Amino acid sequence: MKIATASDHAGYELKKEIIAYLSEKGIQHEDFGCGPDEKVDYVDYAEKAATRVSSGEYDRAILVCGTGLGMAIAANKFKGVRATPCLSDFTAEMSRKHNDSNCLTIGARIVSLDEALSVVRVWLETEYEGGRHQTRIDKIFDIEERNFK
Ligand code: RB5
Repeated sequence: MKIATASDHAGYELKKEIIAYLSEKGIQHEDFGCGPDEKVDYVDYAEKAATRVSSGEYDRAILVCGTGLGMAIAANKFKGVRATPCLSDFTAEMSRKHNDSNCLTIGARIVSLDEALSVVRVWLETEYEGGRHQTRIDKIFDIEERNFK
């Protein structure tokens, strides 16, 4: 699995911890910014990572901002990206099982470091269930086909 990471300034410190976790687990990853001591717009960094998931170059993305919300809104503008803000192990688990989430967004101002790393672990380890959920994902693809240029 190849993961693109990105954050804005609010998510930078937590992103560093998540990157360290991915390295420790031997999961292939690349960071697309921002760097330390920058003040940036989350939208630009959501785009850098989400565009790579949309193109298939990366399998998944992990995006960190203050709330995880702006990153999710921006990332979901990219075809094929299913970005889910996850605040707990349960939402991380369901986002994979039912929504086949391929983009985890986390709010550094909302969750503790331990909670965030647990969310990342659950999100990485949980498989998509498919079946009846695929019908719903197919409807999302259909919306994209009808509405994306
Ligand atoms: C930055 O202050 C903050 O607005 C951003 O990190 C994020 O929470 C937006 O959704």
